[in-house]
Amino acid sequence: MKKYFYLFLSNIFLFIIFPIIRLISKKFYEKNILPKLINFTCNSGPINYQRKKIIPNANGKVLEIGIGPGSNLKHYDNTKVTSILGIDPSEELNQIAKKRAVKYNLNIEFLIESASNLSVENNSIDTVVSTYALCSIPEPEKTLQEIKRVLKNDGIFIFSEHGLSPDKNVSFVQNTTDSFYPKIAGGCHTNRNIEKLIFDNGFEFIELNNIYLPGTQKFLGYNYWGKAKVESK
Ligand SMILES: C[S@@+](CC[C@H](N)C(=O)[O-])C[C@H]1O[C@@H](n2cnc3c(N)ncnc32)[C@H](O)[C@@H]1O
Repeated sequence: MKKYFYLFLSNIFLFIIFPIIRLISKKFYEKNILPKLINFTCNSGPINYQRKKIIPNANGKVLEIGIGPGSNLKHYDNTKVTSILGIDPSEELNQIAKKRAVKYNLNIEFLIESASNLSVENNSIDTVVSTYALCSIPEPEKTLQEIKRVLKNDGIFIFSEHGLSPDKNVSFVQNTTDSFYPKIAGGCHTNRNIEKLIFDNGFEFIELNNIYLPGTQKFLGYNYWGKAKVESK
């Protein structure tokens, strides 16, 4: 019962209240509501559970793309990680991440920039991390090329992303809501085929898993997570 009430309430916000507020003032919505919405939704129990599965694999010099509110910070193993560079174009989310970062003993630097045009040197990063970011970055192909460029030869790309479901009824909802959902969700496209994107852009999977996140609407919750390396670099 509680589950259905939560589902009903989240649909009211997602499909009625947020679109109306954004229609009235896009600037107000994007500055005051969206960062809080991202911080709230990205810290749900099932998403944090996914973070715990992958983030402790990060080692050495780490680049986290689309770091947003810094929700992965608590999961890094500071005995393995030497430094973290967190990049994101959102000033508002960056402020939240900076506040969060003071709680953890990590050597971290933040940069306001786009993952599709990184100011990072070639072959300089041991681990690139992307969680729930490839859905929102406007140029995911260019971003994956940038990840390839900055990774060292033996570097790894670790990810947990949501995207296109293999189930026709779910992908139908993902494709039909794509005309407006990205507008209220910071550019988030729920219908990107993450596996194909990573593979087609020159990565080999070391590990790839899929699941529907429990307690999450199916069109939002088809999750891909794992590790990849640059194809025979
Ligand atoms: C759904 S949030 C996920 C945030 C964070 N990665 C997490 O796991 O909670 C999507 C993030 O992608 C970021 N983003 C959007 N466009 C971007 C770009 N061009 N380059 C890097 N990050 C971008 C947004 O600012 C936002 O922080």
